[in-house]
Amino acid sequence: MSALEVTVDYGAITHNVEVLRRHAGGAALLAVVKAGAYGHGLVPAAAAARAGGAAWLGVAQPYEALRLREAGDTGRILTWLYGPSLPARDLIAADVDVSCSSIEVLDVIVAEARAAGTAARVHICVDTGLSREGVARSELGALLDRAVEAQGAGAVRVVGMWSHLAWADAPGHPTIDAQADVFREALALASARGLDLEVRHLANSACTLTRPDLHFDLVRPGIAIYGLPPVPDPAGKRFGLRAAMAVRSEVILVKDVAAGEGVSYGHDYVTAMPTTLGLISAGYADGVFRAAGNRAEVEIRGRRHRIAGRVCMDQFVVDLGPVTDVVAGDVATLIGPGGPTATEWADVLDTIDYEVVCRFGGLRPKGAA
Ligand SMILES: Cc1ncc(COP(=O)(O)O)c(C=O)c1O
Repeated sequence: MSALEVTVDYGAITHNVEVLRRHAGGAALLAVVKAGAYGHGLVPAAAAARAGGAAWLGVAQPYEALRLREAGDTGRILTWLYGPSLPARDLIAADVDVSCSSIEVLDVIVAEARAAGTAARVHICVDTGLSREGVARSELGALLDRAVEAQGAGAVRVVGMWSHLAWADAPGHPTIDAQADVFREALALASARGLDLEVRHLANSACTLTRPDLHFDLVRPGIAIYGLPPVPDPAGKRFGLRAAMAVRSEVILVKDVAAGEGVSYGHDYVTAMPTTLGLISAGYADGVFRAAGNRAEVEIRGRRHRIAGRVCMDQFVVDLGPVTDVVAGDVATLIGPGGPTATEWADVLDTIDYEVVCRFGGLRPKGAA
């Protein structure tokens, strides 16, 4: 390894899905594998989730749903993020469940389903208070009316209704119950129109782990299937989840320097004493946040070392201290067993671990651990 390497323990994803299914109780599980499975590799992560018992896969982008079909996945797949330019024909032909947040999108789906002589499976997405995807409450009735009409004409089957929470990772936040109430009202509107839904779904990872009363028929965990707990486990056991991603690189040069030496561009770090510096082959082109300079830590030979000075495009430096056994060729663990977690990186960078794994995983081909 002479440059940054991202490996994924796909067995951990299978294990995490099994853990989450136990939390889900009677609800089925949709594994959210959008954005290349949060950087973990769309196709292998999806296969690992299926092996753990994920009855559904979910992706934001239609092309990812189609990619899963090309890769041979034959189970239920839901996609949800698009406007009227969605590739409805391809999605219907691929037997993908489609979400619908507007009459414009429903009309496109209906037209393509009619042309194909089949019924598209539709999930109505309701904005219950996130103010993101989902039909506005004021327009829900009209969308449902149009959907009922299309179902009567055989162009769609309305199989689901869903929404997404704004504050699920803050258990007890009043918006959670407020959104759940709006969701129940939306379900009642569907039921009043005679729609017999197969799946009602609201719960992301945090809600899956903390609000069993809001599981409905299907839970949609994402971050937790990659082994990153979205809320602290009161038992201190990370809910039994295992982090799937590891990020490592190599110490490519070790050298002694005097006290008072400036390190890396702009000399943001100055050695306090005669010391040894280690040069790591990984930089912002590989996903190492530039803001990690002087903040994030890496592990080498069982010890933590903070990044010294600025992260460059393809390298950064650590101060190994005056006495060290580190040699060129040693492995530096940025994230992974024995080293920091993605959550630790997120905490010092004032971001969330979702962004950390997406960034590292998005920029590098992944190997299996
Ligand atoms: C619609 C939807 N459902 C579920 C999830 C999974 O959320 P989490 O990763 O917090 O479990 C996401 C991710 O943001 C999402 O966009």
